[in-house]
Amino acid sequence: MGSIEIIGGKQLEGEVRIQGSKNSLVPILAATLMIEGEVCLKNCPRISDAYDVLELMAETGCSYRWENDILYIDASNLNKSSLHSEKAKTNRVSVLMLGALAGRMGCAGVVAPGGCSIGKRPVDKHIEVLNSLGIRTKEKEDYISCVVEKHVGNYIRLNIKSVGVTENAVIAATLAKGTTVIANAAREPEVDTLCDFLNKAGAKIVRIEPGIIMVEGVKRLFGIEYTLPSDRIVAGTYLTAIAAAGGVGTIKNIEYRHMEKVLEVLENTGCRIFKFKNEISVFAGKKKRSIDIITTGPYPGFPTDMQSQIIALLATAQGESVISEKVFESRFMVVPELIKMGADISICNDSAHIRGVERLNGAVVKAKELRGGAALVIAGLVAEGKTVILNTGYIKRGYVDIAKDLRGLGADIKEAL
Ligand code: EPU
Repeated sequence: MGSIEIIGGKQLEGEVRIQGSKNSLVPILAATLMIEGEVCLKNCPRISDAYDVLELMAETGCSYRWENDILYIDASNLNKSSLHSEKAKTNRVSVLMLGALAGRMGCAGVVAPGGCSIGKRPVDKHIEVLNSLGIRTKEKEDYISCVVEKHVGNYIRLNIKSVGVTENAVIAATLAKGTTVIANAAREPEVDTLCDFLNKAGAKIVRIEPGIIMVEGVKRLFGIEYTLPSDRIVAGTYLTAIAAAGGVGTIKNIEYRHMEKVLEVLENTGCRIFKFKNEISVFAGKKKRSIDIITTGPYPGFPTDMQSQIIALLATAQGESVISEKVFESRFMVVPELIKMGADISICNDSAHIRGVERLNGAVVKAKELRGGAALVIAGLVAEGKTVILNTGYIKRGYVDIAKDLRGLGADIKEAL
């Protein structure tokens, strides 16, 4: 599973260019299954989640090739829509592939999705959405199959704000007959990226109000060239690393308007943030202030995907901070590992109470999921002495090369083989 070694206690200085967005890539790959023609995706992050999804897609007869960070995918000649690969269990994409494959082939089947174990992560709302668009689904043990009865648009009101369910509704409605209106739709930028990608391929999708998306079904989609936006969570992770270790750095190739809540939190801990077109600079002293309370929530709220990294930052802030996790039930798995490094954190229901300590100490710790792993890297940069992070395969799910990027910011970090 790999490991990373860090010698901590060094201030950071430098700049880093941000990779393409994982959570834009995943739904776009699923949507590509509806496209007859070659899709060229630029700024595509070569993360392990991308490889896993592509392996799953290859089972359908879809072909692909990489040229550096450009991915070419061709789903013109699909020959299979019932997939049995256990790869489906490694992430959330299989349930998004259902609507795409059913729309294209009339029926589909996939092993139910897995993903990082950060909560129960049910698929009940995905199933409801597919059913309401005339794609009849059946679940048997961990296999979901579906068949198109009457693929027609509908009015769908989501009773939870879910990124994946909104994306599934958009994908499944794209090739449906007539109009679909999705109310209480998620507002994450990655949802809009998916809509933009599909529109360029010939779909007719408009966000008519912040929480309402309208999809006018089309008969077919065509191959296109598309550049993925950069990853706002990777950018947030590196800004938080500078904030935690102290120093000055610039994050390049990022849209700061999608990061307002994270930047606000960093400023409240005492960092100075400078926003430019396509880049953000941060200046951070050694001392950090605590924050009364941060509550995670759907966009434009504070992203759950940044919660663990901010805990690592607040572990050495002066005073007590509270972070309340409202999206996933089990997203504090990093806490016992941070405690091994000397952090003083307790969990009460859905909140982590972080009492800032003077210093963290290097230790051997284990990544248990993607963002918690990134948080341990941040803690390692702050800690005195050597930190070894085990199971870094989790980090590779979402970061192309976290060690190289942080070396660009002057960190003493390397992958240990
Ligand atoms: N939910 C249900 N039923 C469903 C679907 C979701 O109850 O059928 C619940 C979930 O259990 C959760 C809430 O709805 O409590 C919101 O989950 P959501 O569906 O929005 O999450 P997701 O689509 O599975 C995506 C990202 C996650 C990110 C969340 C929230 C991708 C591939 N994944 O997951 O990213 O945390 O949105 O923003 O886009 C990560 O990058 O580390 C990551 C986990």
